[in-house]
Amino acid sequence: MQEIIRKLDEMRAGARLGGGERRIAAQHEKGKLSARERIQVLLDEGSFEEWDMFVEHRCGDFGMAENRIPGDGVVTGYGTINGRLVFVFSQDFTVFGGSLSEAHAEKICKIMDKALQVGAPVIGINDSGGARIQEGVASLAGYAEVFQRNVLASGAVPQISMIMGPCAGGAVYSPAMTDFIFMVKDSAYMFVTGPDVVKTVTHEEVTHEELGGAVTHTTKSGVADLAFENDIEALLELRRFVDFLPASNREPAPFRPTEDPADRQEPSLDTLVPPDPQKPYDMKELITKVLDEGDFFELQPAHAGNILIGLGRMEGHTVGIVANQPMVLAGCLDIASSIKAARFVRFCDCFNIPIVTFVDVPGFLPGTAQEYGGIIKHGAKLLFAFAEATVPKVTVITRKAYGGAYDVMSSKHIRGDVNYAWPTAEIAVMGPKGAVEIIFRADAGDEAKIEARTEEYRRKFANPFVAASRGFIDDVIMPRSTRRRICRALAMLRDKELENPWKKHDNLPL
Ligand code: HXC
Repeated sequence: MQEIIRKLDEMRAGARLGGGERRIAAQHEKGKLSARERIQVLLDEGSFEEWDMFVEHRCGDFGMAENRIPGDGVVTGYGTINGRLVFVFSQDFTVFGGSLSEAHAEKICKIMDKALQVGAPVIGINDSGGARIQEGVASLAGYAEVFQRNVLASGAVPQISMIMGPCAGGAVYSPAMTDFIFMVKDSAYMFVTGPDVVKTVTHEEVTHEELGGAVTHTTKSGVADLAFENDIEALLELRRFVDFLPASNREPAPFRPTEDPADRQEPSLDTLVPPDPQKPYDMKELITKVLDEGDFFELQPAHAGNILIGLGRMEGHTVGIVANQPMVLAGCLDIASSIKAARFVRFCDCFNIPIVTFVDVPGFLPGTAQEYGGIIKHGAKLLFAFAEATVPKVTVITRKAYGGAYDVMSSKHIRGDVNYAWPTAEIAVMGPKGAVEIIFRADAGDEAKIEARTEEYRRKFANPFVAASRGFIDDVIMPRSTRRRICRALAMLRDKELENPWKKHDNLPL
């Protein structure tokens, strides 16, 4: 028995070394933690239960029969984050470059299957050279098994990808199908084809970082949600993020009691909206002043800044925030912001997270770039997402709510549960000036007449009371009491029940 225990200890110690000390040191030199160190930072101390530490690949070609490393390039298992169960896989770049073999894929699939059965999030830490080249199609099959599980788990348990090294070729499609992608600056990159292929095909010269680094994907492409400076920061923020999420679509998000009073008044909000309707203001100020303790976990802050999305809490319960940002493109909806917000709204709806929407939107962004790019279909995504969502929806219009964009932004007509407006709200088909230029075209050139007509239109329509008189707005509220009014609305809606008609699935405009 003693001998067996000694042997087991030896085998475990060997497996824990992965590709060996030299390669671990190389990993550290690149500023990266090892696969196991990452798990240690991510999970509560001592909570990790590792599975399949002794799994090896089954490939006999290209000298691989003599080259087997226990664990086969991925560390898998489960543990807790702030006491809550999560499943995790962490690819080990020190073992065959973290490349994915058939056995490596089987390990990932095993924890995904169990996460789905017990209802717990899956966190994937990616650091891999892609398909295990020596294994050929067996590796591709392994990827497809993972892809299939990503799809089955989508909307059932939260899936989060943390990219901490290479993630290239078809391998990118597993993270792409998860709910959120976080990346580390300088060490992580994601692309379908790398800089060499790009150079051959399009003659463009581009670095790994420029083509698919964390900054690129959190600003230009919007593929990733957040970029972090280093592994430690990324993993600690991931812990904070998981704390907002329910374990599955069958569980509520965790309740985190707060000292912040639900009826806290914020007198400064009474002057947030400037008297000049053309002047911007920072919508983030409203968000942070309304949420519990000002804690807003913003997602995609550097992409499509004309809309803000993220998670926070109200009276201890997680809420999703969607808000137009007048500081960027005057808060217009465009292709990028519609896609960004639509996917987030659908995430919240999958996981029973109420949605609070702050509206200041002058309409859709005009221009050929938008029309040729398909704003019709992309804008429809956001409309579709809000309209199909059955979670509690509370909307506050702070200033402009013009045209189709008014309808889109969680209006009463698409099952907004509680719709409030500030006294500064202007709910109309369009802004007064544009409206008058169209309906009084004959008066063009007569400045005095146009001015008088504009004032008349502004008096009649650029206010919340026309909408309120029809019941499209439930109340016109004082800005200072916004937190109290939202908290009360959400408390009233806590046991809301609403179901969409039975269908196999809907047909979201893609
Ligand atoms: C097997 C691999 C490997 C792979 C790396 N290694 N990638 N082994 N299959 N895909 C091994 C290397 O042989 C090396 O082993 C060790 O990992 C570290 O690799 P290095 O090249 O020394 O590291 P580095 O210089 O940091 O470069 C990392 C890299 C590079 C950029 C990822 O290794 C690389 O380009 N790898 C190939 C990438 C690739 O083409 N993959 C297939 C893509 S297609 P030793 O023993 O020397 O330490 C794909 C399709 C997926 O993934 C399809 C899904 C549908």
